[in-house]
Amino acid sequence: LDTRPRDQLGRPLRELRLSVTDRCNFRCTYCMPKSVYGRDHAFLPRSAVLDFDELVRAATAFVALGVHKIRLTGGEPLLRKDIETLVQRLARLRTVEGDAVELAMTTNGTLLRQKAAGLRAAGLQRLTVSLDALDDQIFGRMNDVEVTVAQVLDGVDAALAAGFGPVKVNMVVQRGVNEGEIVPLARYLREQYGPAVTLRFIEYMDVGGSERWRLDQVVPSDEVLARLQAHFPLAPLPEPPGSTAQRWRYLDGQGEIGLVSSVTRAFCGSCTRARLSADGQFFTCLFACHGTDVRALLREPAGAQGDDRLRALIARAWRGRDDRYSERRADHPTRSLPDRVEMHYIGG
Ligand code: GTP
Ligand code: 5AD
Ligand code: SF4
Ligand code: SF4
Repeated sequence: LDTRPRDQLGRPLRELRLSVTDRCNFRCTYCMPKSVYGRDHAFLPRSAVLDFDELVRAATAFVALGVHKIRLTGGEPLLRKDIETLVQRLARLRTVEGDAVELAMTTNGTLLRQKAAGLRAAGLQRLTVSLDALDDQIFGRMNDVEVTVAQVLDGVDAALAAGFGPVKVNMVVQRGVNEGEIVPLARYLREQYGPAVTLRFIEYMDVGGSERWRLDQVVPSDEVLARLQAHFPLAPLPEPPGSTAQRWRYLDGQGEIGLVSSVTRAFCGSCTRARLSADGQFFTCLFACHGTDVRALLREPAGAQGDDRLRALIARAWRGRDDRYSERRADHPTRSLPDRVEMHYIGG
C-alpha cells in the first residue's frame, strides 16, 4: 500500500480539515445568507452525519497516509454535541513519523466562554476565531444574527485564559462592507492583546455555488498592507512552507498579522490540504464540484481489511488530484465556475 501518496502535481497529503457539522449559529451574508439558509432550510439529517467512531476512523486513515495536522471546522464546530470527546480521541493520534498530530479548530467564538477550558483539557492545541469587524453595527450586518463584537472577544479572552495562545483571528475583508474596519480592528487587537492574538486578513473568495461574489468586492492584500503600514510600521517574517498566510510583524513588538491572499497570490502550488465534509465526502480542493464518498466504507464493519480499503480509496483520490482552482481563476478573473460546494459544508 502507498503510504505517502502524491498528487498529480507532486503535492503530498499533509493536512485534513474535518467538518463536524454543516450547521452554524451565524448567517454571515457571504457564507450562509438568510435568503438561502432560512428557517426551512434542510441541513444534513443526523443519520447522514459521521458519528465520532466514524470520524476517528477516517482521521486515522488520513493520518496513516501522511496527515500531521487536523483542523476541526463546520459550519460552527462548537455546535457539535460533546465535541470535547472527539478532540480527546483525535489528540491521541500519532503521525507516521511518531509525533502527536497537531490539532486546531476554526470557530466563530460565541461558545468559547463555555467550551475553551474543556477543549484545552481535551488536547486541542490551537484556536482560530472569525471576526469581521470591531464595530457592532457592521459586524451585526455581516453575521446577520446580531451577535456582538464583545461576545466574540469574550470568547477570545476565554481561550487565552484557558491557555491557548497565540490565538488567530480571521477577518474576511469585503470592499464596501468592512474595509473601513481593517485599521480599527488591528489597532484594537494589538493594543488589547499584543502578541497573544494574530489578526489575519482573508481575501474574499468565490467559494460556494452562489453568484454573489464579484472580483471588485475583493480587497487585495497589498492594499490591506498599505492601509496598515500607514499607521503601524511592519516588517515581513519568513513564510513557513505550505502556509496560507504571509506574515508581518509590528516593529514595536506588539505581535504579528497575516495576509491570506487566495485571490491575488494563489498558493495552490504548495496546497497539501484535504477536506472531509460532515457527511463523509472527501474533497481535494476548497472549490471542488464533487467529492469522493468515504462514508460508505466507514460504515462497513471495521477491521484490518476495511481499513486497508479505506486508505486505498483515499490514496487513489489523492493521487488523481490536479486541483489548483485559485491559480486558474487568474485566467478567468471575473466569473467563477458553477456548482461548487458551500463553505459551511466543507469548512473553509
Ligand atoms: P494555520 O496555517 O494552521 O494557522 O491555518 P490555516 O490558515 O490553514 O487555516 P484557517 O482556517 O485559519 O484558514 C484561513 C483562511 O484561509 C480560510 O478561512 C480560507 O478562507 C483560506 N484557506 C484556507 N485553506 C485554503 C485553501 O486550501 N485554499 C484556499 N483557496 N483558501 C484557503
Ligand atoms: N471568502 C473568504 N473566507 C471565507 N470564509 C467563509 N466564507 C469565505 C469567503 N467567501 C471564512 C470564514 C472563516 C473561515 C472558516 O472561512 O470567515 O474565517
Ligand atoms: Fe459565518 Fe463561519 Fe458560520 Fe459561515 S460557518 S456563517 S462564515 S460563522
Ligand atoms: Fe488548495 Fe484548491 Fe485552495 Fe488551490 S484553490 S489552495 S488547490 S484548496
